[in-house]
Amino acid sequence: MSQHNQQPQPIYLKDYQVPAYLIEHTELRFELDEQETLVRATLRVRRNPACTRSKAALELHGHETLELCRLSINGEILSERDFSRNEELLTIPSVPTEFTLECLTRIHPELNTALEGLYKSDGMFCTQCEAEGFRRITFYPDRPDVMSVFRTRVVADRSRYPVLLSNGNPVESGYEDDGRHFVTWEDPFPKPAYLFALVAGDLAVLEDSYTTASGRPVKLQIYADSKDLDKLDHAMLSLKRAMQWDEQVYGREYDLDIYMIVAVDFFNMGAMENKGLNIFNTSCVLASPQTTTDAAFQRVEGVVAHEYFHNWSGNRVTCRDWFQLSLKEGFTVFRDAEFSADMNSRTVKRIEDVSLLRTAQFAEDAGPMAHPVRPESFIEISNFYTLTVYEKGAEVVRMLHTLLGPEQFRRGTDLYFERHDGQAVTTDEFVQAMADVSGRDLTQFKRWYSQAGTPRIQVSDSWDDVAGCYRLTFRQSCPATPGQDEKLPFHMPIAYGLLAADGRELAAGVLELTDAEQSFSFDDLSERPVPSLLRGFSAPVKLSFSYSDEQLLHLLRHDCDGFNRWDAGQRIAVALMQSLMVDYRSGRELRLPESLVDTWRSLLTDASLDPAMVAHLLRLPSEAYLSELADVIDVEAIHEVREFLLKALAQALLPEWSAVYNRSSSEEPYAPDAAACARRSLKNLSLGYLLATGEEVWLTLAEEQFNNADNMTDQQAALALVVHSGFRQAGERLLAEFQAQWQHEALVMNQWFSIQASDPWPGALGRVQRLQEHPLFDARNPNKLRSVVAAFCGQNAVSFHAADGSGYAYLADWIIQLNKQNPQIASRLLTPLTRWKRYPEEVQLLMKAQLARILDSGELSRDVYEVVSKSLV
Ligand code: ARG
Ligand code: ZN
Repeated sequence: MSQHNQQPQPIYLKDYQVPAYLIEHTELRFELDEQETLVRATLRVRRNPACTRSKAALELHGHETLELCRLSINGEILSERDFSRNEELLTIPSVPTEFTLECLTRIHPELNTALEGLYKSDGMFCTQCEAEGFRRITFYPDRPDVMSVFRTRVVADRSRYPVLLSNGNPVESGYEDDGRHFVTWEDPFPKPAYLFALVAGDLAVLEDSYTTASGRPVKLQIYADSKDLDKLDHAMLSLKRAMQWDEQVYGREYDLDIYMIVAVDFFNMGAMENKGLNIFNTSCVLASPQTTTDAAFQRVEGVVAHEYFHNWSGNRVTCRDWFQLSLKEGFTVFRDAEFSADMNSRTVKRIEDVSLLRTAQFAEDAGPMAHPVRPESFIEISNFYTLTVYEKGAEVVRMLHTLLGPEQFRRGTDLYFERHDGQAVTTDEFVQAMADVSGRDLTQFKRWYSQAGTPRIQVSDSWDDVAGCYRLTFRQSCPATPGQDEKLPFHMPIAYGLLAADGRELAAGVLELTDAEQSFSFDDLSERPVPSLLRGFSAPVKLSFSYSDEQLLHLLRHDCDGFNRWDAGQRIAVALMQSLMVDYRSGRELRLPESLVDTWRSLLTDASLDPAMVAHLLRLPSEAYLSELADVIDVEAIHEVREFLLKALAQALLPEWSAVYNRSSSEEPYAPDAAACARRSLKNLSLGYLLATGEEVWLTLAEEQFNNADNMTDQQAALALVVHSGFRQAGERLLAEFQAQWQHEALVMNQWFSIQASDPWPGALGRVQRLQEHPLFDARNPNKLRSVVAAFCGQNAVSFHAADGSGYAYLADWIIQLNKQNPQIASRLLTPLTRWKRYPEEVQLLMKAQLARILDSGELSRDVYEVVSKSLV
């Protein structure tokens, strides 16, 4: 909570100072219990020779909830006069240059609803320390540039908590006199406190092993509730694949004797890379064909790999301060994206990632919380675990990869890991390694880290028929963002190709843009080409070029870059939908152009096309993407136009959809591989179009699929499509059946909740409020809040933006309630309200009124205060 009605203050990157004291060794003893937990910390402290401030006090972070029982230096108990304490810090003004500090603290994990620090999830103890959760466990210099070797003893009741885990290797175990037992863990690798972890509970385990490239055996363990033991195979397989991939692609081996993953039900985010002991949201680790969709299978694979890759990009080399978060997150997202591309379809992975970037990250860049990949200041660091730091950060690393090429990039990462192993560094060091191996000057490139906003690129072309010379001119600019009015030009790679009329490629390569305006000429061409620009989305920008429909169709048919083929299709659909929106607003009848029907028919009937590609090509741009592209978002027009197009394309191509549905149905047993996923995705896309006709025959088909499916992808798709297509009675029936079948599977029921919360049929708010009364809904569980509250506010635009403002008031009520209970979740759920500037004026007033209501609702957490106050500027 904010301190005594003072407004929380920002922290600035420019104020960074090296720590005055280092912790050489950290010994922890936890006595876990139902009513309270005792933490004894014994720290070997030494003055930091790199610190030039003389007489610096020792500052230990400590959350206001910590109850300090005893504090001593070299065995001498300190009295109240020897130190001072406020809401954040315990300060000891005078200490020796080297000493042992012992600190006994009482904490209450059983009351911890913020899910930061040590807390209870379904009866087990677990931790989440990144970014600043360790200060809720004990007094400590809780900053990533203080790295220490940890030895941890966990003591707890034997029967309730048979499994006791922490980082590193188990070195000792035994019984204490009172029926409790203990295990002692030692982690030989120095680490910052944010990578500390502890787990205690009654857990089942899946075991396996992996032998590293140099022949070291590693024990692999995945822990979960015993009822979920049958859902751990996919995560285990993904882990082994990730370990091997990191050896092959980056030359990085695992370094401890044991690697553990624990699945927990209550978790604010996806997962956490604690050294040797990853803790995962169940939604990112559990998977079985019956209960898990293809998308979730892929997410498990990606997140398991992500957390594993952090062992090098994050743990062995960590961040100096939290402004550098993208050093580990951007790089690790890039690594996991490349891993997933190698394991599945590269083009599909790229399409999915770019879709997310272009809808959600671009919207963030255009909103009040816009910030550079390396932010300059923050009030609450938890608010900066953003799409910008993660996804745009990964794009920045991808651009380095494109500029340097794979070989130099690999030499760059080798140098980076070698140079900085065991250190806490900055994004400058990462770029420097790339500059050193390539001999390139990357000074201008670094603007990607310091300047916020999505750059715009205007491209024009000209053709000299006599000389056979084609010329492309690029103009780049970047809109103002909070605190940054003027932007300097970025250095960016533009991958391109030039296509002849017969589809041949006349030229291809990578152009490097550095100036505000720049031209490139291509000589000796036999004909005027069609340019394929920004292939593979080689830079995170909005590129415009006035393509004719013929040119886009040409790219759609012939571009060898799968991403740009898809994007050509998107450009066609977006342009059409934008013009339909104009018609809708002026009350003109909406009409489907014959040309689009012809294009789609050819895509639908060409059985030689890759089903994955077709599925993506024929999916209409999302409401979220259309909103991001709009000058002023007209929620209703976007929704109505998209619904119209869906129905019109369904009617116009009915036999084709039906044929594709039949062609992509399969008798083969379920497998989550890329080919089978693509087939299901095309099948369920066709089912969606068939249902959009509103005809009962297709409802029967959907119900058959629902009843006969041997996998969750098909069953859930049928359910969601029936519910969302307006078959009200059938929808109710299937929802009831689904609930009866799956009520014991928490993750499946989350989907059941979110299908209903995102159902745009009138009356959504009332339905959502009834869902909150459901016995399986639990407002303390973030996954449940995401399934209901976030699904309603984020994926049900027409209902959330109801004209009477009821959706906004609903969200504000939740924020006010959650502000105290779980500030991180409260602040995240708030996002849709912060986007008020994008809507018409009367809507803005309603949205702002709710933000103001939150601001006036009493003492706000730093998390919520930062987002609300910045949004109201
Ligand atoms: N480092 C984690 C990951 O990306 C994210 C954990 C952040 N947690 C938080 N509560 N802010 O893998
Ligand atoms: Zn991460």
